[in-house]
Amino acid sequence: MVVTKNMVKVVSHPLVQTHLTQIRDINTNPYEFRNSCKILGRYLVYEAISNLNTREINVETPVAKACGLVFTDYIILAPVLRAGLVLAEEAQAILPTARIYHIGLKRNEKTLEANSYYSNLPKMAPSSSVVYVLDPMLATGGSAMAACELFYNLNVAQINLVSIVCAPEGVAKIHAKFPQIKITTASIDDCLNEHGYIVPGLGDCGDRLFAT
Ligand code: PRP
Ligand code: URA
Repeated sequence: MVVTKNMVKVVSHPLVQTHLTQIRDINTNPYEFRNSCKILGRYLVYEAISNLNTREINVETPVAKACGLVFTDYIILAPVLRAGLVLAEEAQAILPTARIYHIGLKRNEKTLEANSYYSNLPKMAPSSSVVYVLDPMLATGGSAMAACELFYNLNVAQINLVSIVCAPEGVAKIHAKFPQIKITTASIDDCLNEHGYIVPGLGDCGDRLFAT
């Protein structure tokens, strides 16, 4: 089900691919669009976190003793505002003890540069921190790069990126600077158009999510 090529994991599960088709469709309304994005967020994050470290613990069931696992990493979810919020909701549902560090970035639609408008990161993060940058669209890669640089400067143990749709240009940009970052996605699309939009993509994710 999962195609892992170098540091990119494309999740080909039919549930993921059918919801991706739903959000690509121009006729999908904002309610259905949000719902499919949430489902995609849950399953992409599920795939992305398979690299988290665990340790064994013993518990008692109502019937007997059982050996199980708990996570040992300090997990940070980093949604890139606005559109990343839809992924964070679902990621938080499956990782209720994770910390949420919001990153406010807005792409200038003329220059395609990402401008920072909010970040509230601590000066230091625990050395066992594993970060999942959540941004549904990896287009030029400017926004994801800015988010990853923030965490690289915090010396976290590991940075991962979860995006619903990626352009090859964005993946190349991230891996040129950070070859160790694992990207989990539903699709690597064809290319960017002259306006910096992913082709075929799904249009403007934030606008479609929030009906703006
Ligand atoms: C979109 C998207 C990414 C970014 C991707 O956000 O959600 O954050 O563009 O483009 P890039 O890879 O070329 O940087 P946008 O800046 O439009 O903000 P929004 O989520 O508030 O709509
Ligand atoms: N941001 C989006 O929301 N969509 C794109 O295709 C590119 C950037």
